[in-house]
Amino acid sequence: MAKPTAWFPVPKNSILPPAELHLWRVRCDGALETPEHYEHLLSPDEKERARRFVIKEARRDFIVSRGVLRELLALYLNTRPADIVLRYGIHGKPHVSRGEAQSSVRFNVSHSHGLAVFAFSQAEVGVDIERVRAEFPGREIAGRFFSEQEIAALGKLGPEESSRAFFLCWTRKEAYVKARGGGLQIPLRSFSVRLGENEEQQLVDEGGKQWSLYPFEPGGGFAAAAAVEGKDWRLKFWDRDGSAQRGGKDCNGALRSHVSPRGTAEGRTPQGPGPDLRK
Ligand SMILES: CC(C)(COP(=O)(O)OP(=O)(O)OC[C@H]1O[C@@H](n2cnc3c(N)ncnc32)[C@H](O)[C@@H]1OP(=O)(O)O)[C@@H](O)C(=O)NCCC(=O)NCCS
Repeated sequence: MAKPTAWFPVPKNSILPPAELHLWRVRCDGALETPEHYEHLLSPDEKERARRFVIKEARRDFIVSRGVLRELLALYLNTRPADIVLRYGIHGKPHVSRGEAQSSVRFNVSHSHGLAVFAFSQAEVGVDIERVRAEFPGREIAGRFFSEQEIAALGKLGPEESSRAFFLCWTRKEAYVKARGGGLQIPLRSFSVRLGENEEQQLVDEGGKQWSLYPFEPGGGFAAAAAVEGKDWRLKFWDRDGSAQRGGKDCNGALRSHVSPRGTAEGRTPQGPGPDLRK
């Protein structure tokens, strides 16, 4: 059984030391404030994007996660949420712009079925969350998109185990391609991740850069992982609003307790060539 990740309540100050990777968990479907509160913080292009969502829940998840992102960035950067300027890489990865330069605070976001996770560090970072669904045709998707090594590892598992292992594998792969900024433009078959619960891993990309992969437990039947450039990161987990408790959902029982010394350390459709996991 995986050791549950333990999540801290919101810290008193929000300093991001160079060796730390901060992971935040936030509910979008029971957020502290109404979606209107968060919408107020968005830029005109974000408001326009929000307006284009057809599915109500997807619209809410976008507005709340973007608003909370702005609030968290404002804490780290000591500014106001609405003053944060976001720009986008060629494959759509957002970053904070400070004039012509990119801010030293790097971040990434993922949301799925009302739960969002945010990663902050001073190096390139990616994060992914997925709700684990037994009915999902994981083996079929794996056969089309995973590496031979991963397909073989999944094939050794029984149906129940392999269903969860698919999402553990998927979130690790997606965290890595999101950290690199290419998203699903990076062929998922071109690298392999390990499937063990809590199994951390180092990956080296084609350019020789080293990346660390950290699975973590977001609770409530979700799987998640973060990837960050470099190694020996010290991970910290923050629960923004104790939302899992308020929502009465099982978010691992260790909620608001403490720590993590791990690592020493729109109805959205994915654009690009990957499968639609219909988060
Ligand atoms: C990034 C990507 C993997 C996200 O997939 P997803 O599972 O649907 O969504 P997640 O909830 O995990 O992540 C979404 C967040 O990732 C971030 N993101 C977007 N593009 C990203 C990229 N290329 N790299 C890293 N992060 C990215 C955004 O913050 C986004 O949040 P938002 O939708 O609230 O703006 C997928 O959209 C992708 O592959 N995008 C690249 C496609 C591309 O190459 N487009 C070229 C321009 S047409």
